[in-house]
Amino acid sequence: MSVRGSGSGFAWPYWLPLRSDLRGISPYGAPQIEEAISLNTNENPYSLPSEVVKAITERISEVAKNLNRYPDRDATVLREKLATYISASTGVEVTAENIWAANGSNEILQTIFLACGGATSLALGFTPSYSVHPLIAQLTRTPWFAGTRDENFGIDIAAAKALIKEKSPKIVIVTTPNNPSGTLTSIEDIKELAHAAGKVDALLVVDEAYAEFSTEASALTLVEEFPHVVVVRTMSKAFAFAGARVGYFIAHPAMVNAALITRLPYHLSSLTQAAAEVALDHHELLIGEIPTLVSERERIRAAITEVGFTAEDSAANFILFKGFAGDSNTAWQFFLDRGILIRDNGLRGFLRVTVGTPVENDQFIAALRELAQ
Ligand SMILES: Cc1ncc(COP(=O)(O)O)c(C=O)c1O
Repeated sequence: MSVRGSGSGFAWPYWLPLRSDLRGISPYGAPQIEEAISLNTNENPYSLPSEVVKAITERISEVAKNLNRYPDRDATVLREKLATYISASTGVEVTAENIWAANGSNEILQTIFLACGGATSLALGFTPSYSVHPLIAQLTRTPWFAGTRDENFGIDIAAAKALIKEKSPKIVIVTTPNNPSGTLTSIEDIKELAHAAGKVDALLVVDEAYAEFSTEASALTLVEEFPHVVVVRTMSKAFAFAGARVGYFIAHPAMVNAALITRLPYHLSSLTQAAAEVALDHHELLIGEIPTLVSERERIRAAITEVGFTAEDSAANFILFKGFAGDSNTAWQFFLDRGILIRDNGLRGFLRVTVGTPVENDQFIAALRELAQ
């Protein structure tokens, strides 16, 4: 039996009652090419230290004995450990009651949209940004309004506040540092947006997937004053834990109670919970490469500028750049032909590269210099 993989324009069989609004869309996903150096999905390039691998393996073999039982539905221990990590790293005291965890922050976003979105609740974002946000809006039948960013990928706060007032959304979503640009929205500006969202009874969702790579204060510092602010985080990036699929939000306990309604029962497996708990016990080791990644980011940025291209200001673990001759797809293929897989996000004239290990970055820089010749 042949099963079609992906791509729009597929003639769906007449007997499949797929929703009409989903018929034309393609499955989300960046190419996965094994032989290439993967600098395309903003992962942490460092594999887990052997000490952590050993601790996870030991814990998993204990947990495996009880796989006949459902996991802790509420992931209590994991949420307690996340609360300890977040309190220590942001200086804002939170408890497990402020935290909800799921299979990656994508699932977290879906849980939030299921709770506060829906057919009569507009969601408003500022694009270009993470393309999964509008996808989740569509899947949850939440109408989506794409606000804009300026040519430097910044948000014009006065215009954004006016837009929030005019559109009266139920969800306002901001990514900072933004993906794919890497640019920051300052905490002062996030506060302005929190104000505006509060006035129309909207939730302000701040997607901080890359927060650990930046020195800007977290939107979490606003939650006490603005209980409608929800901060979304992940263990996929700085934590080098993308394969385990663990994301979470930090918010007022009422938002956690809402998530308890829209999560699927037993959504987070015992194996995932156990692995993440051990990872958090070793968080200093896992996030230990952040300074290297940040300095490598700046080395790549300098190299991009040096060859005459333009790099956006990034506070994350990737860089968006432009200035190469020809279209993005041709330049993307140029890198791939040299064994380096970067990302074409569909932004005309731009490509995005994730910071790899120093050796991988050397190879990217060599290809970059060749491209610029
Ligand atoms: C801005 C942003 N949010 C959320 C995610 C989802 O991350 P995960 O589901 O792995 O936690 C990503 C992944 O690239 C991202 O860039």
